[in-house]
Amino acid sequence: MASSYNLVLLILVIAGAFLESNCKLTKNFYKCKCPKALSIVQEEVIAAIKNETRVGASLLRLHFHDCFVNGCDASVLLDDTSSFVGEKTAVPNNNSIRGFEVVDRIKAKLEKACPGVVSCADLLALAARESTVYLGGPPWKVRLGRRDSTTASRSAANTSIPPPTSNISALISSFSAQGLSLRDLVALSGAHTIGRARCTSFRSRIYNESTINAAFARSLQGSCPRSGSDNNLASLDLQTPTHFDNLYYKNLLKEKGLLHSDNELYNGTSSTEKLVKKFANNTFVFFKHFAKAMVKMGNIHPLTGSQGEIRTNCRRVN
Ligand code: HEM
Ligand SMILES: *[C@@H]1O[C@H](CO)[C@@H](O)[C@H](O)[C@H]1NC(C)=O
Ligand SMILES: *[C@@H]1O[C@H](CO)[C@@H](O)[C@H](O)[C@H]1NC(C)=O
Ligand SMILES: *[C@@H]1O[C@H](CO)[C@@H](O)[C@H](O)[C@H]1NC(C)=O
Ligand SMILES: *[C@@H]1O[C@H](CO)[C@@H](O)[C@H](O)[C@H]1NC(C)=O
Ligand SMILES: *[C@@H]1O[C@H](CO)[C@@H](O)[C@H](O)[C@H]1NC(C)=O
Ligand SMILES: *[C@@H]1O[C@H](CO)[C@@H](O)[C@H](O)[C@H]1NC(C)=O
Ligand SMILES: *[C@@H]1O[C@H](CO)[C@@H](O)[C@H](O)[C@H]1NC(C)=O
Repeated sequence: MASSYNLVLLILVIAGAFLESNCKLTKNFYKCKCPKALSIVQEEVIAAIKNETRVGASLLRLHFHDCFVNGCDASVLLDDTSSFVGEKTAVPNNNSIRGFEVVDRIKAKLEKACPGVVSCADLLALAARESTVYLGGPPWKVRLGRRDSTTASRSAANTSIPPPTSNISALISSFSAQGLSLRDLVALSGAHTIGRARCTSFRSRIYNESTINAAFARSLQGSCPRSGSDNNLASLDLQTPTHFDNLYYKNLLKEKGLLHSDNELYNGTSSTEKLVKKFANNTFVFFKHFAKAMVKMGNIHPLTGSQGEIRTNCRRVN
């Protein structure tokens, strides 16, 4: 009796050790280590969005630009120094990604509550979820336990994040390289239901493309001239730019997607067109697949166990 009890115990201990070392992220990672972590991120994200609605979109995008470049390891947050080049000036990021001050504020609160416990990579994953939910989108269970990189790669940021000029095959291979499917690509592109883009990101589409609604193109040309005003902004979803809904897909059906890459999802490729129609037709189905794809994106090779570190300041290595 006693020995079979001991045997069971031994098996449990071995199984536990195995689970500990198998590098999976878990939902309850901070439950004991920092029980207030999730509510701190939530409170600060909500306060930041109340101050400036757009920053919710910016935080969601930061997580994407983190995960696509050598995994979700907060590499995107590292500042350049005289001896270190980070990812902030890579082509897809320069003059474009934002939200760093909000990240700093959340991190300062987390460090005060539980010093050295919550990683910047997990912070980004949680802030992306809280932003989405606060703006009306679906919740998902964020797996946690990511650790922070001690390096960054500007060249990987240049090549791993797809540009808005991408055609559909380039988009599919970029996502496929991250282990994301065609369905994930179409669902995650739905993030463009919130936020803004600079003139330079959509200029050639509004002057040179035939697959764009003419009135829509004309309306954008006012604030995005043929040259200059590169940083003038337009909403990615012309209808409800601060609400997370499925109108992005309805826009695509009418050739009113802002970016060339958005339009590529509904421009003659039947497999992606089918998904666009489905998501345009049913918010619930879009939300379900968006949530699932965000979990998948958030799991792109994290650092776990003793890899990397827990940065004290998200902008620099310890
Ligand atoms: C499918 C490939 C994608 C391409 C080519 C793309 C490209 C872009 C571009 C060019 C901008 C505007 C940047 C600027 O002009 O400053 C943008 C904004 C944005 N992207 Fe994407 N993106 C893609 C996928 C995603 C994904 C997967 C997400 C998140 C899950 C995302 C979230 C956002 C958000 C929220 C904004 C607005 C950010 C803000 O207002 O600060 N994008 N994207
Ligand atoms: C509020 O938003 C503005 C941008 O609109 C930003 O400059 C400022 O730092 C934000 N303040 C706080 C406390 O978040
Ligand atoms: C980033 O943007 C700044 C300001 O517009 C510009 O001076 C700089 O050359 C850009 N860097 C790169 C690497 O493109
Ligand atoms: C990234 O692209 C920019 C613009 O083409 C270029 O200036 C920079 O050298 C590239 N950086 C790396 C590390 O590839
Ligand atoms: C799509 O873009 C890639 C990369 O820019 C290019 O090599 C390829 O020829 C393009 N494919 C089509 C069908 O236009
Ligand atoms: C439109 O295309 C032409 C020919 O390819 C090119 O010269 C021009 O710069 C493009 N215009 C814009 C605004 O992208
Ligand atoms: C997609 O759109 C472009 C214009 O942006 C067009 O040249 C192309 O022929 C369209 N169709 C396909 C199947 O790519
Ligand atoms: C979805 O499509 C069906 C027909 O295929 C249509 O009757 C229904 O109104 C659509 N629902 C929405 C929400 O667009």
